[in-house]
Amino acid sequence: MDDVLLQVENLKAHLPLEEGLLKAVDGISFTIRRGETMGLVGESGCGKSMTVNTIMRLAPSFAHIEGSVAYFPAAGEPINITELDPYGPVIRDIRGGEIAMIFQEPMTSFSPLHTIGNQITEAIRIHRANDKKKATAIAIDLLSRVGMSNPAQRMNEYPHQLSGGMRQRAMIAMALSCEPSLLIADEPTTALDVTVQAQVLQLMRDLQHEFGMSILYITHDLGVIARMVQVVAVMYLGRIVEITDVDSLFYDAKHPYTKALIQSVPKMGKKSRARLESIPGAVPVPINRPPGCGFYPRCAAAIEGLCNRLDPPLIQIEEEHAVACFVYPEVVDAVGESKPEGVNHAV
Ligand SMILES: Nc1ncnc2c1ncn2[C@@H]1O[C@H](COP(=O)(O)OP(=O)(O)OP(=O)(O)O)[C@@H](O)[C@H]1O
Ligand SMILES: [Mg+2]
Repeated sequence: MDDVLLQVENLKAHLPLEEGLLKAVDGISFTIRRGETMGLVGESGCGKSMTVNTIMRLAPSFAHIEGSVAYFPAAGEPINITELDPYGPVIRDIRGGEIAMIFQEPMTSFSPLHTIGNQITEAIRIHRANDKKKATAIAIDLLSRVGMSNPAQRMNEYPHQLSGGMRQRAMIAMALSCEPSLLIADEPTTALDVTVQAQVLQLMRDLQHEFGMSILYITHDLGVIARMVQVVAVMYLGRIVEITDVDSLFYDAKHPYTKALIQSVPKMGKKSRARLESIPGAVPVPINRPPGCGFYPRCAAAIEGLCNRLDPPLIQIEEEHAVACFVYPEVVDAVGESKPEGVNHAV
């Protein structure tokens, strides 16, 4: 257990809306180890952002939160983040100091009223070095390491004066300024063009080697997952439906949803005219969800009488490979059922 940094157990974030109860995150569990990069992948609306916002205690205040998020600091007792006062000093120390977050749109992290330099040095002074000169030197050094030209001059610029790629770099510099143990990156490169995206991904990998931090990387782009992460959790309708290492995900995907996701990615060398596969149907909104597997209405391998009746739990069926799908007998066993006769289980 020594190498565990974050342990999420049965985490739920349910939103009571006028239309009904929206189960944005519905009982998910995973572990991030020190130095490891984990990816969270899934279509738009499956609950990726809500998961990390709940971990950071940034979920909307009307959300009902259940489950636990244990954070294991380098020294001292583990902290159950879900029990902290969301506006209290402990979570504020963790946020930024121990766990830093970068977002898809950097403008949301920066105030338009202060210079980049002011904002980064402020964060350093709160969490690391109170001395202004020292904090400024650390900030300039970080900006140059994230590839900013003329970092000392950039310190005096306002966020709107920087290009999209430069703002993203500045946000990464700010996130890393307190040497966090965990960096949560929520679609940090989606708004960037591909060449800048490649540079920013490379930069994060380099900095991870240098700082030894863990990364939780959120994206719906499997290409980015392939390049960035070691362990992948696939989310669908607020649940994790498959979790495994990145090689097994691409070469031995188990869940019909994961298989469909992988098939929908354009392959190098495929005839350029070849049509992209798409997953039939759209992601349903998880309000007043009917019983059964959430993927049932879109699934080609669905087993009538089972998948539309019961929720498949996430069960480990191979070493370091868990899946929530009744195509696998272990999952059927886990709910105390037997496979219906005469069903072809090939997916
Ligand atoms: N403040 C809110 N009020 C009501 N519903 C919300 C709120 N925030 C999120 N949701 C809903 O919760 C579900 C999960 O949203 P979330 O933002 O976590 O998805 P996501 O996986 O991050 O998607 P994307 O890839 O588009 O960023 C969605 O159905 C979304 O509409
Ligand atoms: Mg999101």
